[in-house]
Amino acid sequence: MPSIAAENEITVRNLLAAFEGESNAFAKYIAFAAKADEDGLHGAASLFRAAGRAEQIHAANHARVIKQLGGDVRCEIHKVEVKTTLENLKTALSGEQHEVDVMYPEFLAEATARGNTLAIRTFTGALEAEKTHARLYGEAIVLLQGGKVDSWIGSAREFYVCPVCGYTSETEEEHERCPVCNCPWEKFEIIR
Ligand SMILES: [Fe+2]
Ligand SMILES: [Fe+2]
Repeated sequence: MPSIAAENEITVRNLLAAFEGESNAFAKYIAFAAKADEDGLHGAASLFRAAGRAEQIHAANHARVIKQLGGDVRCEIHKVEVKTTLENLKTALSGEQHEVDVMYPEFLAEATARGNTLAIRTFTGALEAEKTHARLYGEAIVLLQGGKVDSWIGSAREFYVCPVCGYTSETEEEHERCPVCNCPWEKFEIIR
């Protein structure tokens, strides 16, 4: 069993909580994407898949840091409750908002107070991506509530996900490099 230095105990606990959150978000979004496709909301499905891929990258990044700090990577995956796509979008949005407003700022403050650069980097990458996810889910909710199924939510579309930090973008050529981690744009994954 690896051991965790006393000064890293809280940071590792936070990383594990974030790892669990990201792993469950990934599971949720994949199920929500299937439901959105079933509902003919293929653009919303693309968004769920892109955000899901980003959460998977965040989970892997958090897991790597947990191991580097001597922790044991484990988490519980909960059963996904799939409702209507509108409700699923709202569930996704509230999860993202919690991460953006509460969870990551708290975890970042703790890691910053400890000067833990590994944790700061992985939390920052996740926080920045979740902001975009929250914005896009919010947009999709407004469109769906307005009955605008002929907008982007209705047809499969491309999203671009940074393979290093999970930054998610809806436009091609938005940047030459990832604005969060500087990864070159040509390495971005295209998710439909
Ligand atoms: Fe997210
Ligand atoms: Fe990035």
